[in-house]
Amino acid sequence: MSDQEPTRRISTVRVSARGQDYRVVQVIGNLFICTKANGSCCCGWEEKGRMPFANELWSDEWERRRIRSRLHLTFTGCLGPCIAGNNALLQLHGRSIWLKDLNDLSLVPAVFDFAQQMLDEGKVLPPPPELADHVYERYGPPPTEEWFELVPSKQDGDNGLARLDPVCLMDVDPATARHTVEYQGRIIAFCAPSCKKQFLADPQAYQLTG
Ligand code: FES
Repeated sequence: MSDQEPTRRISTVRVSARGQDYRVVQVIGNLFICTKANGSCCCGWEEKGRMPFANELWSDEWERRRIRSRLHLTFTGCLGPCIAGNNALLQLHGRSIWLKDLNDLSLVPAVFDFAQQMLDEGKVLPPPPELADHVYERYGPPPTEEWFELVPSKQDGDNGLARLDPVCLMDVDPATARHTVEYQGRIIAFCAPSCKKQFLADPQAYQLTG
């Protein structure tokens, strides 16, 4: 399994908000982490016997693996099953994978290894031995396995990629962007100087393909 994701295959969907069109990256999944900073009542509370929480524990591992275009990371407030915390919820390939008792530092990379393996193989897998005791089914099975599109998607294909900040994947209009760089004959727009700096440090790592 690679720590690098030099070429990221990305699709975007066009959505309207506040009367304007935007491109939203279609990710494959989302990892939600219950955090003290967002008002959890138990997870991350050392005084309640839980591993103290720090965002960097999770965000550094997520950034290092460059999986942002496939897996979004969200720090949340209480997810519900406080008694079993520290808790996380991994939603991947349409499946909700609940993780509990994440009270050891070694479990952070283990969760990402598990997620990355499922991303790479394109399917939901049983948890590896080190996570077997930390995964459980919180939701009952759905009444049908059939997946259907809730509304017709407005796909943009490659056109949408030209508007994406390649680092954070925000929709940025190159015509009005304040932070741009010319790279391999095209203008790349960034939402902020920090993204531009990150890109210039390693442009190959931020190539987007549809
Ligand atoms: S405080 Fe983390 S699940 Fe409730």
